[in-house]
Amino acid sequence: MTTDAIGVFDSGVGGLAVLTEIRARLLNAALIYVADQAHAPYGERGLESVRARAFAISEYLIGEGATTVVVACNSASAAALHELRERFPTVSFVGMEPAVKPAAGATKRGMIGVLATEATFQGELFASVVDRHARGVSVIARACPGLAAAVEDGADVDDFVNRYTADVVDRGADTIVLGCTHYSFIADRIRAAAGDGVEVIDPASAVARQAARVRSDRDAAGTGTTRFLTTGDPRRFAAQIARLVGTTPKVDAVEIPDVRSGRIVVVRGDITTQPVDVIVNAANAHLAHGGGVAAAIARAGGPAVDDASRAWVAEHGPVPRGRAAITTAGAMAAGHVVHVVGPVFRDSPEDEPHLVDAVRAALDASAELGAASVAMPAISAGIYGYPPADACRVIAETADAWLRKGGTVREIRLVAFDEATAAHFDAAVLSLRSRTG
Ligand code: DGL
Repeated sequence: MTTDAIGVFDSGVGGLAVLTEIRARLLNAALIYVADQAHAPYGERGLESVRARAFAISEYLIGEGATTVVVACNSASAAALHELRERFPTVSFVGMEPAVKPAAGATKRGMIGVLATEATFQGELFASVVDRHARGVSVIARACPGLAAAVEDGADVDDFVNRYTADVVDRGADTIVLGCTHYSFIADRIRAAAGDGVEVIDPASAVARQAARVRSDRDAAGTGTTRFLTTGDPRRFAAQIARLVGTTPKVDAVEIPDVRSGRIVVVRGDITTQPVDVIVNAANAHLAHGGGVAAAIARAGGPAVDDASRAWVAEHGPVPRGRAAITTAGAMAAGHVVHVVGPVFRDSPEDEPHLVDAVRAALDASAELGAASVAMPAISAGIYGYPPADACRVIAETADAWLRKGGTVREIRLVAFDEATAAHFDAAVLSLRSRTG
């Protein structure tokens, strides 16, 4: 294994421009490049899912010996740069941020255009860059759907480039920032479309300079090797490198599954006394907490839980499938109760998707509340008649898939009062581990 390497990643070919510039500055560094082509384009995925990819790939690169990771992708930087630094504090991360600062210095008319993916504009990073650096300057944020994918495929980009560039130039921009690393490869096309008098700023070399700064003192000790990896088709990636960079290196395929942002644990005991942010209730649609877990939660929470439940139903009507009702936890230690309605078991093909919807709704609502820890019972087992082993499996698998999307939840406790259900939860969690390592 390589040690003290520099890992570089992007959804695909965009980061190659940054990689090339890093190599020009650090002749001996051991470089590892991952193109996450099985999950591209990032710009059109949700931020959470891009964040999950950034976590998984960074963890992989660190495992392969990277001590510096260059996030050569604006979308991934927008989705995850801050969280990556928190999650891997011993690693130095160099990320991309739209070059609003130099653009604000360069514009004569006080109007700059930023071309980037939708994901880049959604992240807080863009808002904070504008906030910090665009003082007194107007910024036109132009999302460019389809453009990164066209660069990736070597397809004709002219229509996209003409449309997106004209949009910002017609609105008065005299400086254009390339806010997606894929656009480096078509910078000349964008310059031509923008016409004379418009400056186009490509931050690829500034980022490479920053990476070089972080590493220059250690460069001499490196192996000078570059490994190219893709989660997609290695032959396709090799052809893309040849087309865009003009070299023909060996490319390997790699599988990098999402990692979970939190853990799943099985707890034996009383759900109402769990020291968590959210307790999930297996409720009925009317939030009439008459039996099973619901009755225990209503009892432990005191009248506040019943009152809030009645108020919720009075305002919104019965709780529909796939939705959660949030109430106070009353006298319990938890912050909130999230009520979801699982299926009454009918032995029909709809049972499982219905239960999946309930688990997801509970976790989505917990995430909205900013919860770090959630206690969940065996929804639909017990009085709702779902066979407990199956219910526990569906709940554990859904929680596992949900945690792989990233987010703030660090722990999901699957809580069972009786030993038989706890054993089913144990078996379900064990089988997740044996499948995913
Ligand atoms: N190259 C990436 C960026 O800088 C992502 C492009 C994409 O996959 O959408 O935003």
